[in-house]
Amino acid sequence: MRSVIRIADLSVEEIAGLNATASDIIAHPKNYAEVCHGKKLATLFFEPSTRTRLSFEAAMYDLGGHVLSVSDGNSSSAAKGESVADTAKTVSCYADIIAMRHPKEGAPYVASVNASVPVINAGDGGHNHPTQTLTDLLTIQREKGHLDGLTIGVCGDLKFGRTVHSLLEAMSRYPGTRFVLISPEELKLPSYVKKDILEAQGVPYIQTTDLEGSLPELDALYMTRVQRERFFNEEDYLRLKDSYILTPERLRSARQDMIILHPLPRVNEISLAVDADPRACYFKQVANGKFARMALILMLLKEAGTL
Ligand code: NCD
Repeated sequence: MRSVIRIADLSVEEIAGLNATASDIIAHPKNYAEVCHGKKLATLFFEPSTRTRLSFEAAMYDLGGHVLSVSDGNSSSAAKGESVADTAKTVSCYADIIAMRHPKEGAPYVASVNASVPVINAGDGGHNHPTQTLTDLLTIQREKGHLDGLTIGVCGDLKFGRTVHSLLEAMSRYPGTRFVLISPEELKLPSYVKKDILEAQGVPYIQTTDLEGSLPELDALYMTRVQRERFFNEEDYLRLKDSYILTPERLRSARQDMIILHPLPRVNEISLAVDADPRACYFKQVANGKFARMALILMLLKEAGTL
């Protein structure tokens, strides 16, 4: 059974196909309004979420399907000690496809090897978040017109930010990609991501603490929140949380065609005044998230023989 646990589970060609489907859905939503008639998506979220869960659910409704939802782990049998494996086997009896978010790295993978329906990782701890990356890639494709030859600045919590890890894994596969990794010393990219993804693929990157000085060379700036829930102590979080705050003044040195992305939620790292800047694309990302997930649900249900 085909599941999507990390972005590399999808080939570059499949991602191009998903982007094409998502753009076709955006242009002709009515053509897709009944395609999942009678099918059910289960969203199992054992961590907080607004955009990811609701966009998955809106995606299934807009495909004509239904949704079963666990939005709070404390209200499910996980709170009684049920294993992820047993939960996955159980939910497979009721739903045609599962989207799971879990605080433990690897939990959606465990679900996928026990489920008899496709499982989509909707974020596992500080590890991966492939559907946010599909959203990011769709947004970059639609805003810049292509995914190759881009210099991408990634700023903030590169240590715990799962959206960053998946984005780097995805963008590393396009020719001409360069990364500028901007973070405080303590929140630098984990060495396993550097070694297994950037260095393994020979992707050029620099590491710096300087956001403003990096801006002029960027085609896209991907801002991220400091991931409070992954810190071992509050003092460290408080010291690091406002390391970077993007303001209209700081943006003066950025190119006119640089796009500003953020997976959201934003805490303090992009000032509200930036929202009016035409380069700000983070609410477009939110909208694209539903279409990217519609395309993925369709692809996986077709491959599973459910459609
Ligand atoms: C991200 C996540 O959950 O990793 N949010 C999202 O899904 N859009 C980013 C974050 O929480 O900072």
